[in-house]
Amino acid sequence: MFKGVVAGLGLFLLCGTAVADEAALKAKAAELTAEYAKELKAAMSGAMAKGGPLGALEVCNKQAPKIAADLSKSSGWSIGRTSLKPRNAAAAPDDYERKIMEGFAARLARGEKPDTLVSAATVEGRGGKTFRFMKAIPTGEMCLTCHGANVAPELKQKIAQLYPKDQATGFKLGDLRGAFTLKKIVDEAGK
Ligand code: HEC
Repeated sequence: MFKGVVAGLGLFLLCGTAVADEAALKAKAAELTAEYAKELKAAMSGAMAKGGPLGALEVCNKQAPKIAADLSKSSGWSIGRTSLKPRNAAAAPDDYERKIMEGFAARLARGEKPDTLVSAATVEGRGGKTFRFMKAIPTGEMCLTCHGANVAPELKQKIAQLYPKDQATGFKLGDLRGAFTLKKIVDEAGK
């Protein structure tokens, strides 16, 4: 009986710690996402102002992957963007990301606010227990220039050249464009 209580208490403490850890991971992931979004936005608006959509396309092509890579390196997290209809084939979702984005899209269609579409969970991953965080990216007005239904012909041509497998056009204002996706292994396999 005493043993049972001790075991129960142990379990409670363990679970309590896990919940606290997850809350801290979620807060950190949200902070990194905000930083990543801010850097992307700054690079994009600067490039649009300077070189118009064509110039911005080049910047996006080179800068977007670099911003994600730099932030991943400095933070120790895996940070990127994904989409059910990716432009860069390297941004294609895994099964987990696909499921979460399908959920986001359904909730968005039901009228939920894009800002509330966030998912955080610890799951079994290939490298061990992995904390995963995702946040929806809605389609804004400016995004339609390069992701909308009527992309200008010269832009379209350049996009096709850079991304022969592009799927990221035809979006409407307010559609789910994709999601930020962050990962961190929290417990390596076998430990
Ligand atoms: C000037 C053209 C341009 C504009 C404007 C633009 N994008 Fe993109 N977008 C791109 C390019 C090019 C890529 C591929 C970048 C890469 O190679 O990683 C991309 C990639 C993405 C991705 C990553 C997933 C994927 O499909 O590869 C998301 C998400 C995204 N854009 C969302 C947006 C949103 C939201 C906006 C508006 C706030 C926006 N984009 C505006 C050109 C643009």
